[in-house]
Amino acid sequence: MNGRLKEICARVRPCGVFADIGCDHGYVSQYVAAHSLAEKVYFTDVSAECLAKAEKLLAPFVAEGKAEGALGNGMRALPVRPDEALIAGMGGEEIVNILSASPFAADRLILQPMKNTDKVRRFLAENGWKTEEDVVFSSGGKFYDILTAERGEESLTEDELLFGKSNLALRPAAFTERLRAELFGIERYLSKAKSESARAALEDRKRKIEEILR
Ligand SMILES: C[S@@+](CC[C@H](N)C(=O)[O-])C[C@H]1O[C@@H](n2cnc3c(N)ncnc32)[C@H](O)[C@@H]1O
Repeated sequence: MNGRLKEICARVRPCGVFADIGCDHGYVSQYVAAHSLAEKVYFTDVSAECLAKAEKLLAPFVAEGKAEGALGNGMRALPVRPDEALIAGMGGEEIVNILSASPFAADRLILQPMKNTDKVRRFLAENGWKTEEDVVFSSGGKFYDILTAERGEESLTEDELLFGKSNLALRPAAFTERLRAELFGIERYLSKAKSESARAALEDRKRKIEEILR
């Protein structure tokens, strides 16, 4: 299992029903079932081909009634409401689409967007979710965001929506390293900006990152 998947697995809490939405290979579901972290694991995917991979991997748990696969779009594929739902390895916009269709479809969420994490944060803050953790980690030379959230209220500042509440409060090394890498990229692209507005947006982002790193 790669480092990204290990970070996801480390955030699963023991629960009754666990759902892995967009499971693809099914490695996280296999981990949850093998470690008895849930009484029942549902693993779903919108692609029959992807679901078939997970069904093969999880066959022993399916045979025991501890896991079940379901084909379909987002949470709607689930036959029951899960206590905990994982949506990982896809873009933030797709995660928001899935959650928008069933905004209260679980008690706890583990989300690992590959991009547009600010859109996920905005959705959670505007739809009755309270972030427990929202951090950057690095694995295999790449940076990833991971968030966990429970039902609740919270009001986030614009900076917290853009950069993540826990990142700003705890400053994990991966967070500052990613900001430094972004700053380096912005400085390279500034001279190539095609329009004044593109240049102004880069300058704004640069100022904000420098302020956070100070
Ligand atoms: C890149 S894989 C990530 C797999 C795994 N969750 C991980 O983090 O490694 C994304 C998977 O999500 C599935 N997917 C994308 N949109 C989906 C949706 N709306 N509902 C269910 N599955 C979806 C894709 O078919 C694909 O198998």
